[in-house]
Amino acid sequence: MLSVEKNRLLCSVDAGTPGGELFRSMWLPALLSAQLPNPGCSPVRLKLLGEELLAIRVGSGKAGIIQSRCAHRGAPLFFGKMEEEGIRCAYHGWVYDENGKCTEMMNEPNKNLCRNVKMRSYQVQEKAGIVWVFMGSGEPPALPKFPWIDLPQDQFLATVWLQETNWFQGAEGEIDSSHVSCLHRTNANATSTRVHRHYTYSDPSPKYFIRDTNAGFMSIARRNADNEFYWRITQWMAPMFSLIPSAAWPIGGRAWIPIDNENTYCWDFSYSKDQPLQQPFLDFVAKGAAFPPEYEYKPHQLNTGSMIDTWIPRRRMDNNYLIDRELQQTFSTTGIYGVNDQDRAMQEGMGRIADRSKEMLISSDIAIVTARRRVLDILEAEGGIAKFRERIADGTAFAVDPVDVVLPMDGVDDFLAAQGLA
Ligand code: FES
Ligand SMILES: [Fe+2]
Repeated sequence: MLSVEKNRLLCSVDAGTPGGELFRSMWLPALLSAQLPNPGCSPVRLKLLGEELLAIRVGSGKAGIIQSRCAHRGAPLFFGKMEEEGIRCAYHGWVYDENGKCTEMMNEPNKNLCRNVKMRSYQVQEKAGIVWVFMGSGEPPALPKFPWIDLPQDQFLATVWLQETNWFQGAEGEIDSSHVSCLHRTNANATSTRVHRHYTYSDPSPKYFIRDTNAGFMSIARRNADNEFYWRITQWMAPMFSLIPSAAWPIGGRAWIPIDNENTYCWDFSYSKDQPLQQPFLDFVAKGAAFPPEYEYKPHQLNTGSMIDTWIPRRRMDNNYLIDRELQQTFSTTGIYGVNDQDRAMQEGMGRIADRSKEMLISSDIAIVTARRRVLDILEAEGGIAKFRERIADGTAFAVDPVDVVLPMDGVDDFLAAQGLA
């Protein structure tokens, strides 16, 4: 459990808070490049770390992320007209380029005045089909060297959608290995040929081990697997990146990027290091059976008032995630269709910001406790964020791999040595 004060510290991302500073010390995935498909296309409304933003792609093809409201009198630039060098505010015609620089004031006779206007804008770069943003000050670090970041396009798939909780609630679900055997259990798991499904079903109470890495830690789970052991290493990187192992399916990684304190962009990164993503996997993804959920790209007004343009899940709290009680009795724990729908039903149902002062944690929550401790250590320690910035400066702290394997040894150190991770 966490005190109310520590929970607030962990969950707050607004400018001026320690959490806000932590997120502003790293490159964040902001939107898919495909959301800005060509120069002059429709702008995209974003909210990140409590700030309302607008993503545009100007005539040169460059993407930019600028404040969402016009510097003149605060009209929403989203309704502006895209022109060669920027976006023209629909209200009185001021024009802004991709760096937020005002280049024209239609209703001002002094043509030099616009030189004094510079809106808030952030550094961006595009890589792996993603527009990345750095919202901090000072020298940005290198982009994280995730194992997927340089893969050919046909070996990697990034998707993003809305989760209506604080970011940490989603991030916790990612490393909460023991829920898989319950929440995501179906009758099909027992006969699955995908090794991890079979063994997570047959041994629902694994033994957990934690080992630190440069950016976070490995959560290691050992399950009984006939006469051997089924080992899984999930990689967690502060404050909210993960890589989830899979022996017979593309690997999945996720990021929980705070929209504000009560809403989150959930990112999924699926990849295969040695071959193109295969059609059965792409068909599975298209059904919304796991990550992403079944969803629709559309404008959405958040409970906190802001408008954003992103993918909105079809199964939501206000339709009970389309639970099928009959299916729940006969086939699956939840009767809810997709894996992410099942996760969101639990995590969104805990409230926008879970009250962690009213929990009863047990030994299988060790990875969650460790993640909280790691983030709080960064936020609370004198110079903690500066030290974290040093650790991630060249991006290599994120160059780690998850593991999913059946082996005879039962000792964690022997297992790690066999993987070259001792
Ligand atoms: S509010 Fe945008 S130009 Fe006046
Ligand atoms: Fe889950």
